[in-house]
Amino acid sequence: MSVDRRSFLLSAPFAAGAALAQEAPKVPTAMIGVGNRGSYLLQGVIQQPNAKVAMLCDIKPDRLDKAATAASKDNPATTSDWRKVLDNKEIQVVFIASPPYLHAEMAIAALKAGKHVYCEKPVGLKPAEIKQLLAAAKASKQVFVAGQQLRSIVQYQEAIAKIHDGIIGDIVMVKAQRHATEDLPHDGSSGDWFFDVAKGGGYLVEQSVHNLDLCNWVLNAHPTKATGFGAINFYKNQPAGRTIFDCGSIVYEYPGNIQMSFTQNVFHPRAMPAGGQYIHVFGTKGAVDLMNGTTMYPIAGGEPVVLAAKRTERPFAHIETFYAAITEGKPAPINASVGSVAALTAILGHEAMVKQQVVNWSEFGINL
Ligand SMILES: NC(=O)c1ccc[n+]([C@@H]2O[C@H](COP(=O)([O-])OP(=O)(O)OC[C@H]3O[C@@H](n4cnc5c(N)ncnc54)[C@H](O)[C@@H]3O)[C@@H](O)[C@H]2O)c1
Repeated sequence: MSVDRRSFLLSAPFAAGAALAQEAPKVPTAMIGVGNRGSYLLQGVIQQPNAKVAMLCDIKPDRLDKAATAASKDNPATTSDWRKVLDNKEIQVVFIASPPYLHAEMAIAALKAGKHVYCEKPVGLKPAEIKQLLAAAKASKQVFVAGQQLRSIVQYQEAIAKIHDGIIGDIVMVKAQRHATEDLPHDGSSGDWFFDVAKGGGYLVEQSVHNLDLCNWVLNAHPTKATGFGAINFYKNQPAGRTIFDCGSIVYEYPGNIQMSFTQNVFHPRAMPAGGQYIHVFGTKGAVDLMNGTTMYPIAGGEPVVLAAKRTERPFAHIETFYAAITEGKPAPINASVGSVAALTAILGHEAMVKQQVVNWSEFGINL
């Protein structure tokens, strides 16, 4: 059967494209920890055209089964031993979504095994292990991304670029909060570790690390010291044996005498105004509510200015950029240094709350 020129021209690029698509190598990827967050990240990996799910790891068999079913098109191997993931030479990329107290150990071992690493936040709970992680990342040629996906939100990127360009003048103060209406469910997916401060780090370290990272980003610095108070005032001994605070008030100092005050609680009534999360950045020309519309309010009065319009984000933009950094050499959205600084900022505030005194960043003994 002859093929006329028109059909050839129409079909050839598709045929070539199809062949290319078939030949495009898919990066063998493993997930360690496929609980709540890990199974969400797994969806993101499944959607990447340049990734294949080659191995899944969790110590809970039901979660492993569920994840294997979700990724069945790639027929991944499964294991309950995360070191077997690292021993598998085929695996190039490892996602770590285990509880926080395991992150640094797993991430350091994964980097040393030559894997690219996507490590959920916080990257570590102790300054000493974060120091080791930084050294491992420096020694590695692989891509390391912390799961601080706010860094991939274009609206924040644009607004913060304008703030860095001086649109609100010099930043003189920041006021931020992360209030929730209730505790994380005591019998939820992460209930077996979240309320133990040694395993999760507490709300400031485990959750507010996102907000604190945004503060560091907009201030283009990390704090030099912190002081504060934290307490268990609402959920006393709930769940039994609880060791994480349910509220806290921290003041950080950044270079240039800039104060950043931060409060968090998990009992802000839904109907009461001023709940939720915000970061108010005060400058000499005006202030911005960074997390709620990136709106700037000029100090001299006049109309508020929206610094960057909200976009419909690609839900897995952070994961996309991670793979683009691996396969195309594009810049990673966040590296080990930024992830470590965010975790250390949270740890500094936590230590200040525990010690009820001023804690200095220099005490970490970490040069960045
Ligand atoms: N970036 C974000 O917005 C975001 C959102 C939610 C959670 N997280 C982070 O993700 C991490 C996991 O949180 P989660 O809510 O999914 O908790 P989770 O308890 O639901 O999941 C953790 C999983 O790790 C598994 N696990 C524990 N020890 C393991 C081991 N030694 N080897 C392999 N697997 C092991 C558990 O069995 C569990 O399935 C936390 O660090 C959390 O801070 C990030």
